[in-house]
Amino acid sequence: MSAETMEITGAAQRAAKAAYGEGALIVCDNLVRIFKIADLEAVALQGLDLLVAAGEMIAVVGASGSGKSTLLNILGGLDYPTAGRAIVADLDLTRLDRRERTRYRRRVVGMIWQQTARNLLPYLSAAENVELPMILDGRRGRKKRALELLDLVGLSGRAKHRPDRLSGGEQQRVAIAVALANEPAVVLADEPTGELDSATSAEVFEVLRHINTELGTTIVVVTHDPLVTNRVARTVAIRDGRTSSVIVRRTERSYDGNHRVISEEFAVLDRAGRLQLPRAHIEALELADRVRLRLESDHVGVFPDSSGAEPPGPAPSRTGMAGEGTPR
Ligand SMILES: Nc1ncnc2c1ncn2[C@@H]1O[C@H](COP(=O)(O)OP(=O)(O)OP(=O)(O)O)[C@@H](O)[C@H]1O
Ligand SMILES: [Mg+2]
Repeated sequence: MSAETMEITGAAQRAAKAAYGEGALIVCDNLVRIFKIADLEAVALQGLDLLVAAGEMIAVVGASGSGKSTLLNILGGLDYPTAGRAIVADLDLTRLDRRERTRYRRRVVGMIWQQTARNLLPYLSAAENVELPMILDGRRGRKKRALELLDLVGLSGRAKHRPDRLSGGEQQRVAIAVALANEPAVVLADEPTGELDSATSAEVFEVLRHINTELGTTIVVVTHDPLVTNRVARTVAIRDGRTSSVIVRRTERSYDGNHRVISEEFAVLDRAGRLQLPRAHIEALELADRVRLRLESDHVGVFPDSSGAEPPGPAPSRTGMAGEGTPR
């Protein structure tokens, strides 16, 4: 291949890459994170793709160990992917130097953790906790802004209280105000209601929703809480370090004028054509190792291969369709 051709191919590849997720605020492109401990490797993320538009609020769900916190740590600029790209607000997180990364963590993202104690400094008042990120960023008008933010999360009367004098739910609401201090584009919350009872969780979640609609802040919230997943427009499920399905909710007006919420679950098809079958489907048909696929006019059939029998219907052209697994 001539140098010129190589250059053109390279440019075309870059253009194709750029096209994925263009316009999205958060782009996870084939993210891989492998943790090495001695001789063992844990693959926490294995080629995760995810796009989040500006102003969206999404929930991320998945079994313990599926990679949710790993994903949030990467998006929060606290950890690096082993491979793949993570782009937030047009910043490629794998390419930031130390100073840019610090600035990113101060200004572009705000984080809220499950453990209330991790979010706040115990010896500072609520207002001082909110002021702290602004002090670190050298912002003016911090006192006024801290009080405004506490008001926004419904805690204007608690500004002088230290965390030990606040309830768990109140501490998490202060944590939201802290996360918002420097007007981040994105708030990442890792099970923010995990330590709270359901009534308090609902309150904290309502505050997050309020922030999302009032300020337009993009919010990604990892949760086990069905209450949360029932109330966001999009819930993304992660399985084994990959997005496996997405539940989309929309409100529709029915003929009698009432609004009803329509909720639909989709499997995620990635750019390499891979999808994860739900475990229940796999177990129901005892699918294993390889399956037969058949293209119909309006759907693709998946058949177990255990019996050796032909799939029903007219003879398909099966060559190259069984056990597909084209590496990317
Ligand atoms: N620092 C680390 N060192 C080694 N392995 C890790 C590390 N962090 C995460 N892992 C492993 O990566 C996988 C994903 O972990 P992660 O914490 O992202 O899961 P999670 O979905 O947040 O789970 P949970 O719901 O329990 O919080 C797990 O197998 C975990 O053991
Ligand atoms: Mg976690």
